[in-house]
Amino acid sequence: MSKYITTPIYYVNGEAHIGHAYTTFIADTVARYERLKGEDTFFLTGTDEHGQKIEESAKKVGKPTQEFADEISATFKNLWDEFGISYDKFIRTTDEKHMQGVQKAFEVMYAKGDIYKDFYEGHYCVSCETFFPETQLIDGEFCPDCGRSTTVVKEESYFFRLSNYEEKLLKHYEENPDFIMPRSRANEVVSFVKGGLHDLSVTRTSFSWGVKMPQSIGDEKHVMYVWLDALLNYITALGYGTDEEKMHYWPADIHFVGKDILRFHAIYWPAFLMSLDLPLPKHIGTHGWWTRDGEKMSKSKGNVVSPKEVADAYGVENLRYFMLREVPFGQDGDFSQRAFIDRINSELSNDLGNLLNRIIGMSGKYSDYVIDSVDVEKYHSQEIEQMNLILDSLDAFIENLQPHRYLEELWRLFSIGNGVIQEYEPWVKMKNGQKDEALATVAVVANILAKAAIMLHPVMPNTTNTIADALSFEINTQSYKELVQEKKLLKLFNIKKVPPLFPRVEEPLMQEAPKAEPTTMKKEEKKSSKEDDNLITIGQFFETSLKVGTIVSAQEVVKSKKLLKLQIDLGEENPRQVVAGIKEFYSPDALINTQVCVVANLKPAKLMGMISEGMLLAAKDEEGLCLIRPEKSKKAGTPIG
Ligand code: MSP
Repeated sequence: MSKYITTPIYYVNGEAHIGHAYTTFIADTVARYERLKGEDTFFLTGTDEHGQKIEESAKKVGKPTQEFADEISATFKNLWDEFGISYDKFIRTTDEKHMQGVQKAFEVMYAKGDIYKDFYEGHYCVSCETFFPETQLIDGEFCPDCGRSTTVVKEESYFFRLSNYEEKLLKHYEENPDFIMPRSRANEVVSFVKGGLHDLSVTRTSFSWGVKMPQSIGDEKHVMYVWLDALLNYITALGYGTDEEKMHYWPADIHFVGKDILRFHAIYWPAFLMSLDLPLPKHIGTHGWWTRDGEKMSKSKGNVVSPKEVADAYGVENLRYFMLREVPFGQDGDFSQRAFIDRINSELSNDLGNLLNRIIGMSGKYSDYVIDSVDVEKYHSQEIEQMNLILDSLDAFIENLQPHRYLEELWRLFSIGNGVIQEYEPWVKMKNGQKDEALATVAVVANILAKAAIMLHPVMPNTTNTIADALSFEINTQSYKELVQEKKLLKLFNIKKVPPLFPRVEEPLMQEAPKAEPTTMKKEEKKSSKEDDNLITIGQFFETSLKVGTIVSAQEVVKSKKLLKLQIDLGEENPRQVVAGIKEFYSPDALINTQVCVVANLKPAKLMGMISEGMLLAAKDEEGLCLIRPEKSKKAGTPIG
């Protein structure tokens, strides 16, 4: 089976910012993941270069439009090359082949009777390159999407019979609930279509920077509407209308898009494809928007995050990791150096980097940099089982477009690795003459690292190649199949020393964004500004997974004044162990079969040598502590939020 993955094509009216980098990183990660699995994958990105907006931007800087487009398109391509983006094709809508394909598509739709000539009178937002009926404008003038002033357009135009596709589109959404992902984004599309679709003006005559009308139709004063031109890139890149060479990749598996351009991809694009009698893309993966330090990025505020600047300061792979881990796909995310540095230090440097260093160090000390897996099964079958369960669970997170969950689960492998060293203390075993056991512990961790490196490879390709190099194996489809799918262990490791992969970051490496001037703040607003500094976004809140749990058993921890050891049913396969400091306030018997609220996505921690895999919500004041419980009984595992 083949896979086809795309990013949006970026407008060439400015340089790439962090939002563009985000879509590109996700698409690149998924493409790399598919290739790792051995799928024949085609990954497309490129630039969107026609339309009034580009024509005006070029005029402003006094350059011929093509030259202007060439320059900016090259900045995107160069940046993606510098970032190691593994695209198979970088399309430009000014490519001759693309333009021929667009003309061909226009002819097909025209011949089908889906395009007719009429007169357009309405409002146009140049920034969004979108027509709006007057009823949708704010105060009769402003664009409902970006708030900018619209212009009145009154010209002859060809129209696409979008209204003919209302029913077919609704049927498609209903029959394919995962067409729009995440599913939560589908409602807005469905209600837009149910609200009634107007036919779409698909040519313009008031400017000339666009794909010309096909000669067969004549009418040379018309150029194509930029969104018709742009959306067709997904098939012209495969040779539609010209050599058709790569059309076997169609339909696309995923078009990654930002939420602002969902409507074009989920309504116009499928309607165009239906008109062309082509199958529809399988999924439109819709992501949210990035802000910087909680504020919308804009050129005028001077707070746009340049991905190049961040990558130069922190490393592009660290940035990939951060962006994919930080935000649940589909939700808005915030870029702050503080959050970025925290993830580098705690997850990359502590959890992963230190684990690798420890293995390199111990293998050198105990066995002259050679690790043998011979006794791993004997001493660590339990850890291997846990590891295999995690490895098996990962694929679904990519399928469901949940890169943050994928990484979260993947990181549990490092917890197992770090936990096993702490628990088995190989240095003590070495002292006691139990060398086989000590070496088995080092070897199980080396295997965990090797498998985790394979799964992390799509997100951090170079870093994981260095890890693989240190462990003397290669990451490729074969090692994926053997180590991840077939669960084999690497027999022998010849360990190489590598410099620390993730040096700790002690302070911000880039200048902070200029703070927005508090211009006309009212008194009450001023009062609360201190609190505002601590406000979090709803997305940050939902990072915490809170669940209702039922306590199935409770025991005192004998040597502790404070701790009780609980087993809590969270609707998962097995109950979770939570060690809670509530002994002074609750007796174990009184807790059994009662319900509590549990923080379910905390990193496991050890308390008095016992693993604790969650935390209970409780309130404490001078009168004591009480647990926070659901008012009515709820099924174990019910999410709270
Ligand atoms: N040219 C069109 C897409 C045509 S696809 C057939 C376009 N280009 S764009 O350059 O304006 O935007 C490209 C992508 O960047 C969009 O998916 C948009 O959502 C995304 N982003 C723009 N600003 C963003 C953020 N601040 N955060 C995240 N993504 C954002 O639209």
